[in-house]
Amino acid sequence: MAFDDPVAELSAYASHPSVSADSSFAQGMTGARHYVTSLLRELGFSVETIETPMHPILLATRGDPSWPHLVVYGHYDVQPADPLDLWTSPPFEPEVRGDRLYGRGAADNKGPQIVHMTALARVLQRNPELPLRITYLIEGEEEVGSPSFKGFLERYKDRLDAEMVLVSDTGSPNPEQIVITTGLRGLVALEARFKGPAMDLHSGVHGGPVFNPLRAVSEVCASLHDEEGNVAVPGFYDEVSVPADWERDELLKMPQTEEEYLGFIGAPGFKPSSGYNSLESVRFGPTLEFNGIGGGYQGEGSKTVIPSEAFVKITCRLVPNQKEGVIASLVKAAIEERCPPEVSVEVSVTGGGDPYVVIPPGKPGSSGEESPLLKRAFSAAEQAIAQSFGSSPIFMREGGSIPIIGDLKEIAGLDSLLIGLFTPADNLHAPDESFHLGIMEKATTAFESIFEDLAGPT
Ligand code: BES
Ligand code: MN
Repeated sequence: MAFDDPVAELSAYASHPSVSADSSFAQGMTGARHYVTSLLRELGFSVETIETPMHPILLATRGDPSWPHLVVYGHYDVQPADPLDLWTSPPFEPEVRGDRLYGRGAADNKGPQIVHMTALARVLQRNPELPLRITYLIEGEEEVGSPSFKGFLERYKDRLDAEMVLVSDTGSPNPEQIVITTGLRGLVALEARFKGPAMDLHSGVHGGPVFNPLRAVSEVCASLHDEEGNVAVPGFYDEVSVPADWERDELLKMPQTEEEYLGFIGAPGFKPSSGYNSLESVRFGPTLEFNGIGGGYQGEGSKTVIPSEAFVKITCRLVPNQKEGVIASLVKAAIEERCPPEVSVEVSVTGGGDPYVVIPPGKPGSSGEESPLLKRAFSAAEQAIAQSFGSSPIFMREGGSIPIIGDLKEIAGLDSLLIGLFTPADNLHAPDESFHLGIMEKATTAFESIFEDLAGPT
């Protein structure tokens, strides 16, 4: 039985270098896709490979159309592994050390997928006729912003006549305290290219009359935040909603102080946006962040040059009820307006997604009209996590983004139950990524109960 040894299964899955961003890893993408296809077939799913311009999406189904219908989402792609020299063991040669399995994608997102599948295998072994219809969606472009997923949803939404989505692609504070993620921030990615003279110039021969594009990029970037640390783009905060009281109460249960958080980050201090402390601002506040800025001479020593070009890469994280398209236009307009006339600027929007929130059924503000399966899943998850992990989950929004979760709501009308299985110690997107084997085992037990509960008599 493939799922008798889930750690070996994860190790095999994580050995396929499925880096979606880099076309030289095409074989790793195919390998990971085939691997997860074979796991799903072993579980009794019929699996279709849906072609996209980049990396195919797997659509796998089991069960009778009359049964309650659950969608499970995951992604088989991973982030690039570099810088390679900072890994203790090679990123695509997974290794168990202590209570962790190390390898790129071990936590994000291959480990959590093995958890769900192992739980399902155990449940199906006990009850092969489990009356739960499940559609698996495993995509290969999550780490590059899921460019094909919206189109896929438009085309296949009829096949997603489900009641909810189950996802584990978010975090928890530590292996003892699990979070049920009640919101994800949205995203807008932009790139601005500032162009000055037609070519690099001698900064002595031409310095004076020429407006240096590095000065333009610096001035424009400096204008995008005010002294309080807020984003200085007119209209940016217009639609921002305030967190509910119950969300602030849940946050107080988080087993981390601001001091500990600062210690973990290792910076000299925090500058949260106004009105929020650092723990709040990462979950409840929007941001405008510079991810890369450059131009001019970057080599050793000095070079007297006025560069012809400069660039900045920006991402904004959005909170309810900001809209991706609106924020993209506002930021683009602010950059264009503030660029001095002696320099030209071209701003392109390179990706995005709307924020997502789900109010747990029964909490203040919930509609009471959630699908029966979603209601059931939230209470089953709460109980199963309390049972397996020894403490109840915290219901909390997350700072990261999974843009397709908003799309699933928008296009297919589906809310998600997001159960956080990775922790800050897992080094997501960084060297020495790992997945905690204790979480893996406890979560598998919890998911067994969740699947059984969802299929149980109403
Ligand atoms: N699994 C993460 C998102 C995540 C990380 C959620 C930590 C909660 C806690 C996902 O794979 C990811 O990295 N998303 C990107 C989205 C981007 C590439 C469009 C992100 O948040 O930067
Ligand atoms: Mn992920």
